[in-house]
Amino acid sequence: MKSIASAPGKIILFGEHFVVHGTKAILAAINKRVTVTSAFTDNNTINVNSELGTLEVPILSSYEEAKSEFRPFIYLANKMINSNQNVNGLEITIDSDIPVGVGLGSSSACCVAAATSISGLFNELSSEEILKISIEAEKTIFPNTSGADCAVCTYGGMIEHPSIEKIDNTFDLNLLIANSMIPHNTKNSVEKVNKFKENDEDRFSQLCDLETKLIDKVIVAMKNNDATTFGLKMSENQKYLEEIQVSNDTLRDMISSLNEISLGSKITGAGDGGCIIALVEDENMDKVPALLGKDKECFSAKIDTKGVVWSVIEE
Ligand code: PMV
Repeated sequence: MKSIASAPGKIILFGEHFVVHGTKAILAAINKRVTVTSAFTDNNTINVNSELGTLEVPILSSYEEAKSEFRPFIYLANKMINSNQNVNGLEITIDSDIPVGVGLGSSSACCVAAATSISGLFNELSSEEILKISIEAEKTIFPNTSGADCAVCTYGGMIEHPSIEKIDNTFDLNLLIANSMIPHNTKNSVEKVNKFKENDEDRFSQLCDLETKLIDKVIVAMKNNDATTFGLKMSENQKYLEEIQVSNDTLRDMISSLNEISLGSKITGAGDGGCIIALVEDENMDKVPALLGKDKECFSAKIDTKGVVWSVIEE
């Protein structure tokens, strides 16, 4: 039997970093996916095969000794093996079309797809259970994760975090994703923001309040079909991200080069590299490559509405 699950990547439209400190955030799942296939083996090992490499460890060995990208899989495999008798080994294969380390949710989509695929060998879990164990798995890499990424990869569509309420996009969001090609490290960026907070608690708390108000206005703008306000709020959110110092010259240059054709733009995800998103009208999409330059990757994101999907092949 093979248990196969696929989960979408994501963008954070509003609220990254501040969400770790308790504010709301708005996220959307995108049409790039990771697929995880799990099967029983008789090897007394957990085998993980992915583009990032392969790993073989004895069952029930500690995930902490593995390279960080493999930890969630070992954690999830051990959790399932621990609560189910007569399991002698697992093979886990990962196929992904989500770029790694650029803020598009590759690690959370892996955690959600792996939680669904591995648990699916034993029984079908509810979305709430999948989300809970995928956040546990993601904490093996990012102990301070807000859980927002796993939530949108599980449920799909556009959601508000932490309520996980679905938001209907009333206007056609034409979101451009542009990759700075600078890999980022979410844990380091989150730690940097923690330091900013420690150094200036008052300003950080003001920024959290400003972010909350901004998100409330975005939700009203979406209900009113108001793309102009949505775009302006993206650029306002970027100012807060600049202030907490998760931007850099490359990201600023990318944002300003798109100014003339976008309604708004900002970093998406942890920053310090990774991707930016911009709200660009259809008729201007063909101008993007020339404005950004050849060394940047860019594509138009479609919102995924399905979230995690699961199937089984009996052999
Ligand atoms: O760049 P990413 O996809 O790892 O985004 C992390 C988003 C943060 O808000 C910075 C952290 C979190 O756990 O929400």
